[in-house]
Amino acid sequence: MNEFMEENKKNWNERVGIHKKSEFYDVEGFLKGKSSLGRLELEELGDIKGKKMLHLQCHFGMDTLSLARMGADATGADFSDKAIELAKELAEKAGIKAKFICSNVLELDKHLEGEFDVVYASYGVFCWIPDLNRWFEVASHFLKPGGELIILDGHPSNNLYEYSESKKELEIIGSYFNNGPQRFVEDYTYTDGDKMENTVEYEWSHPISEFINSAINNGLRVTSFKEYPFIGYFKYPNMVKNDEDYWVIEGTDIPFTFSMKCVKE
Ligand SMILES: C[S@@+](CC[C@H](N)C(=O)[O-])C[C@H]1O[C@@H](n2cnc3c(N)ncnc32)[C@H](O)[C@@H]1O
Repeated sequence: MNEFMEENKKNWNERVGIHKKSEFYDVEGFLKGKSSLGRLELEELGDIKGKKMLHLQCHFGMDTLSLARMGADATGADFSDKAIELAKELAEKAGIKAKFICSNVLELDKHLEGEFDVVYASYGVFCWIPDLNRWFEVASHFLKPGGELIILDGHPSNNLYEYSESKKELEIIGSYFNNGPQRFVEDYTYTDGDKMENTVEYEWSHPISEFINSAINNGLRVTSFKEYPFIGYFKYPNMVKNDEDYWVIEGTDIPFTFSMKCVKE
């Protein structure tokens, strides 16, 4: 791992402790049986009963374990050792069978064997990845022929916007095309909870064309690409929650989320 990823790993390791206690992740609710998956993910995933699934960048595993509760044979992978430790602890507490691997996603093929029916990743995944083509290469490597890659994340065009306190609206001041690594210093993570000590993080932006080309380059046929004018977490101060608990900016139709499905040829 390079210096940027090492820094990101420190940042993610610290977030695990904060996220575990947060209302946002509601670990108690999960342990009582609540699924951590939202409407959009469930729609994109469809029936996963009996499917062998690889969940990339699984954080502390609640989504992976929710997939297992739906009947999938689920494996989660993440580079944060603290996240994987907690994922295993939650699996034990909830009495759910799942496998967890600690690895940089871009080197996962050196640490894990096997072929999967579905490779899945969701929300806050691709901004941490310097080489999107390599990410797709790894995903494709783990898919059996006819297997599906299913991803959902913040829309790449979000990198263009910042909220202007004076204008009370979004301003276009960012960059859409890949310009990483961008260094950010954030005192707080995206959930409720304590201030962070490891505040530095490095991010990369990837335009839509890079997702499409990375699929094409790695033997994956795109079967679906969708964009949505809402997002599952609070992102800008002028957002409000809609009836379905998704965040929107009323009176606009900016794309905030995308989903993509591909089949391994
Ligand atoms: C926002 S979380 C994924 C969100 C997940 N859906 C959730 O909310 O539980 C992003 C995850 O990516 C992981 N991550 C970041 N860079 C990574 C890398 N290079 N290899 C593996 N995992 C990485 C982080 O440790 C973190 O758990």
